[in-house]
Amino acid sequence: MAIITFTSPQMHKDKTVYGVAGDTKTILALAEDNRIPIPFDCRDGNCGSCLIEVSYDNPADKKAIMLTEKEKQKLKELGKLTQQEIDDAEVRDMPPRYRLACQFIARDEDVTVSFSGMPGGS
Ligand code: FES
Repeated sequence: MAIITFTSPQMHKDKTVYGVAGDTKTILALAEDNRIPIPFDCRDGNCGSCLIEVSYDNPADKKAIMLTEKEKQKLKELGKLTQQEIDDAEVRDMPPRYRLACQFIARDEDVTVSFSGMPGGS
């Protein structure tokens, strides 16, 4: 089960959401279900509005990182992901700092998701 804590200046206080095992909802979908105001537009990895910063609550608890091609492309365009970070994620299971909420499915990992509330502003 994933434990996802959302934090933002747009929220009165942090909110923790529990992802159901086997759930394939994106972070954006979980946020919407819980009225957490992550900005979005396309929901498809194209616009970059849903940029979030992600920290792993237990960094030693590594998981395989899955980045979609769209997510890699858009994050690179935004200057939020380098080729080195892609290699680190895909080869060494080192999670990148920035993700797109509409592309990120948290499976088992416990993470804190930060966003500014400005589209693309993480
Ligand atoms: Fe457009 Fe996520 S909502 S990239």
